[in-house]
Amino acid sequence: MKGGSQLNVFERMAEFGHEQVIFCHDQGSGMRAIIAVHNTALGPARGGTRYANYASEEDALEDALRLARGMTYKFAWTDMPRGGAKAVLMGSPDADKAVQLRVYGRHVELLAGRFGTGPDYGTGPADIAEIARETRFVWGTGEDLGGTGDSSPFTAEGVMAGILASLDVVFGSPHPRARSVALQGLGAVGGELAERLVAAGATVVGCDVDERRASRFADRLGLTLVAPEAIYEHPCDVFSPNARGGTINQQTIRRLRTRIVAGGANNQLGEPADGHRLHARGILYAPDYVINSAGAYIIAGRGDLGYSDAHVRHAAIAIGDALRLIYRRAAAEDRPTAEIADVIAEERIAAAARSRALAPGPAANGAHA
Ligand code: PHE
Repeated sequence: MKGGSQLNVFERMAEFGHEQVIFCHDQGSGMRAIIAVHNTALGPARGGTRYANYASEEDALEDALRLARGMTYKFAWTDMPRGGAKAVLMGSPDADKAVQLRVYGRHVELLAGRFGTGPDYGTGPADIAEIARETRFVWGTGEDLGGTGDSSPFTAEGVMAGILASLDVVFGSPHPRARSVALQGLGAVGGELAERLVAAGATVVGCDVDERRASRFADRLGLTLVAPEAIYEHPCDVFSPNARGGTINQQTIRRLRTRIVAGGANNQLGEPADGHRLHARGILYAPDYVINSAGAYIIAGRGDLGYSDAHVRHAAIAIGDALRLIYRRAAAEDRPTAEIADVIAEERIAAAARSRALAPGPAANGAHA
């Protein structure tokens, strides 16, 4: 970890330009959470709440900061006027998760809408319902509770649209029949994706760190399972990361035997250089925050902004078009797709920041009188 045992929070914030980091703690329940607000140039910050066991505070902070930044870029690629944030709740084996979620919800409410949240790795609709008992600024509870419903099936639908567009660009046909896909992670998004791919006639192999979950899928869908470490070498047309981030890195890229990397996970690349490594190997990479943005349309679009079902549905299909645009420009400029996606997002964020800098402050219209 950088900086030895020190967190160096400001240094880390300055590196990526984060606006605010909030540390939340509750003595009684042992709840510990970090809310990272990256950038609000495009609007108030939104991002999921992750519940995971972290080896250290440094790891939790790093995860929150990197994921929050990804959300800023994700929103910049959508038509949603929202900025990027992320929260991590540090789980512990003996903690009462429901109580922690509620206490955390009170902290979210105190931010008065500057930050709003929804599900992420380790938080499903039932967990979101706990948070929703304490704050208005959470979306993604089940439809039975009057909420938007889970975002994961929809994220998978968008990823599917992205995979088809990527197949088309590489093989000249979008049809998944007779194509092979290696799924890393069979959780909320990976599992939904597995169902869709199998139904479309693709050959699917999968893995999951949770062996019971993996074998449930294998039995039901007839998937072939491989060990989590063996998935990288598995020959396939599409390698699809759907678990925690950073799995596409210097060590793993040389082991990949695929033409395409396209999946639902956030922060798939270990570092920006990995975009170049994939490019150099001729592997087409679907930038993570573009291909997985459909879920955000459920949470921030349908939930927060009140977008219609038709609007949200169209947005998922349009993911294919967004990727084609990136692929075309990357090919024309002979640059990594990850870099092209970043550049376009950064242009949009900078333009919004410039116009905000010129806008009159609230005091100008008497708000502070
Ligand atoms: N966690 C999901 C994502 O990263 C869904 C989500 C989007 C949750 C936006 C909250 C806000 O896209």
